[in-house]
Amino acid sequence: MRPLVIGTGGREHALALALSRDPSVGEVYVAPGNPGMEAVATRREVDILDGDAVAALAREIGADLVVIGPEAPLVAGVADVVRDAGVACYGPGREAAMLEGSKAFAKDVMAAAGVPTARARTCTTADEVAAALDELGSPYVVKDDGLAAGKGVVVTADRDEALAHAAGCERVVVEEFLDGPEFSIFAVCDGSTARALQPAQDFKRIFDGGRGPNTGGMGAYTPLPWAPETVAQDVLRDVVQPTLDEMARRGTPFAGTLYVGLALTGDGPRVIEFNCRFGDPDTQPVLAVLTSPLGELLFAAATGGLDGVPPPEFGDGAAVTVVMASAGYPEGSSKGDVIVGTETLVDEPDVEVIHAGTARDGDALVTAGGRVLTVTATGDDVADARAKAYEGIAAISFPGAQWRRDIAAEPLGVVEGAVVQEERP
Ligand code: AMP
Ligand code: GLY
Repeated sequence: MRPLVIGTGGREHALALALSRDPSVGEVYVAPGNPGMEAVATRREVDILDGDAVAALAREIGADLVVIGPEAPLVAGVADVVRDAGVACYGPGREAAMLEGSKAFAKDVMAAAGVPTARARTCTTADEVAAALDELGSPYVVKDDGLAAGKGVVVTADRDEALAHAAGCERVVVEEFLDGPEFSIFAVCDGSTARALQPAQDFKRIFDGGRGPNTGGMGAYTPLPWAPETVAQDVLRDVVQPTLDEMARRGTPFAGTLYVGLALTGDGPRVIEFNCRFGDPDTQPVLAVLTSPLGELLFAAATGGLDGVPPPEFGDGAAVTVVMASAGYPEGSSKGDVIVGTETLVDEPDVEVIHAGTARDGDALVTAGGRVLTVTATGDDVADARAKAYEGIAAISFPGAQWRRDIAAEPLGVVEGAVVQEERP
């Protein structure tokens, strides 16, 4: 198999690494990719939002599977164009990607499918927002309806702040607050059948203890020792399958990754959000412990044949991912800072440096974005993997580097959930 991975981030680097470990995969291509991927893949240039260009590249290199990493090309319909060109493509088409592209649409599908989630109201006027805030109560959760790169959600006990956020958006979803540790499950879907990967937990805020602004994610780990053993199967049954059935009923079957973000509440798992792609950085630890072939799984999903391949398998150990971000993240980022030390980890067993916002400047590796790289380590358990990940972080440096010291330090969603309230009394 010759896969082509579309994207530039840590998620795409992790996908390329896991694909390269699949014995049925020959050469891996990435476009545009990043310098870290050059060890396992051939890089090509492409405008990832241009479906015709992606399809043409796939044809030119003879790719038999295109894997689209980020949400923007999926929401723009790139997967449809690639499929129409006759190349198998892992990722939902434009209409199915609306599960991430519009929070109101996702809520409508969840309601029709009977999926357990927060009660919600979709609002377009200030009066509707005020009424929904009063109905659903504090802490207030207000979400911009469209794609907002992680900046669209405000959780606050301050009614004025909730109203102000809504006033800056065209259409918002106001929701009931879900109390409990957050986790994510990636369901690999082929339109009618789904397979769950092992659950992971992502640390979304910039500072230790879950403080400071939200980010794309500062670290993650798997498995979750505090979650019920059946949680992945429970979510497949109660969330993913009903959602697939509802999407198929609407004539827009969902094939690709249904990323289910959940809170484990006193009443069981409740959906916080859907995304239509793998998470970043939560994909990194999950793929690090995947022992079954990824290419075979994604190809089966892309071609409607998930029933015919064995379910994904995972090792007994754990994996921990710690993100190093550049100065100024998450409000901005710093480019061109020289990164040293990654080469010292190349032969380190159980440790992988996964690049995200890196670039080359002559012989130097430099920062080129907010989240610069992650160190992902595997170990016998979470504590062991965590120790190795932080040893790796200690070997790497660049001016202004930021990272959290408490990734996977304890069964943490509990702490993050509590801090949302602690910070905004
Ligand atoms: P989202 O973009 O929907 O993932 O929301 C970003 C973050 O806001 C989530 O990771 C949660 O921490 C928080 N959040 C969103 N919706 C809720 C909710 N209904 N209850 C509690 N927290 C929420
Ligand atoms: N890590 C959260 C996300 O990928 O949406």
